[in-house]
Amino acid sequence: MDENNPMSDPDDWEADLERRYPPTGQAKKTAAEFRNYQDSVRASVKEFYRLNHQYQTFDFVRQKRKQFLSLNQRRMGIWEAMEFLDTLVDDSDPDTELSQIEHLLQAAEAIRADGHPRWFILVGLIHDLGKILCLFGEPQWAVVGDTFPVGCAYSSTIVYHDFFRMNPDWGHPVYSTRLGVYRSQIGLEHVMMSWGHDEYLYHVTKAYLPMEAQYMIRYHSFYPGHRENAYQHLFSERDKQLFDWVRRFNPYDLYSKSDARPDVESLKPFYQDLIAEFFPSQLAW
Ligand SMILES: [Fe+2]
Ligand SMILES: [Fe+2]
Repeated sequence: MDENNPMSDPDDWEADLERRYPPTGQAKKTAAEFRNYQDSVRASVKEFYRLNHQYQTFDFVRQKRKQFLSLNQRRMGIWEAMEFLDTLVDDSDPDTELSQIEHLLQAAEAIRADGHPRWFILVGLIHDLGKILCLFGEPQWAVVGDTFPVGCAYSSTIVYHDFFRMNPDWGHPVYSTRLGVYRSQIGLEHVMMSWGHDEYLYHVTKAYLPMEAQYMIRYHSFYPGHRENAYQHLFSERDKQLFDWVRRFNPYDLYSKSDARPDVESLKPFYQDLIAEFFPSQLAW
C-alpha cells in the first residue's frame, strides 16, 4: 500500500460514499451488490481517512491554497483538462470501472436527460476536474474524500471522526472550539474547507459560472454539510438556500454510474459547444 495513496483508485472513495449513502429505496439491493467489492476496498478507504484526518490542518490548507490558488500550474481548455484527467492511472478492473471522462459524461447526460438548464449539465461535465491535482503529484488524501471546515471543531458527523485525534488541531485552544476562528453565521465563503478537488476547481471556474453552479462545484464533497446538516452555525442565509442546489446535484454524482456507458466520441460535439458557451478556450489551472 502506497503510504500517501492507500486506495488503488481515487474513485474508491466515491464507491464507499455509495455504500454510506445508498439511493433511497434501494438500500438492501445496493448493500448486497457492493458488499464483496466493499470488503476489500474498506480497509484502504479507512487508511485513506486516517491520513486525511491526521494531515488536513488549518495550516496545511493555508499552505495548499498558497501553492495552487495562484493558478500557475498550466493553461488548458476544459476538454483538454478532461483528457488530461483521463490519464490518471486506474488499475482497477477496466471492464467494470468507468474512466474519468465516462463518469463526467455520465453525470452530465443524466442531468441533461432530466431537462435541467445548460449550466447544470456543464457542472456534471466538469465537477471532478479538480482531481488533476493527483497528476500534479498531490496525495489522494489531499485531493478526494469528504470535505469539512478547518479552523474549528471537526463535526462528529464526519466519517471516521476518531482519526482526528491524531490531528495537531484537535487540542488547539481555538481550532478545537465549535466556532473556532469564525463567528456565528459567518457564511461559508469565509470558512476554509479541507483542501481538495472541489475548492481547487471552484477557483479555476468561478468567473464563468452562475452562483448555483459555483456552489455545486465547491461543496459537492461536503457531505457533513449537504447530507448530515452539520455546521449550520457557520451557514449564512444564502448558503442555506444555495445548498438546495448542492443537494440537487449529488444524486447525479453518486448514482449515475450504473447507467449505460457513454459514447465519448458521439457526445463530444454537443459538449464542446456547451463548454464554448461558458468558457474561454484556455483557462489558468
Ligand atoms: Fe468529486
Ligand atoms: Fe464525481
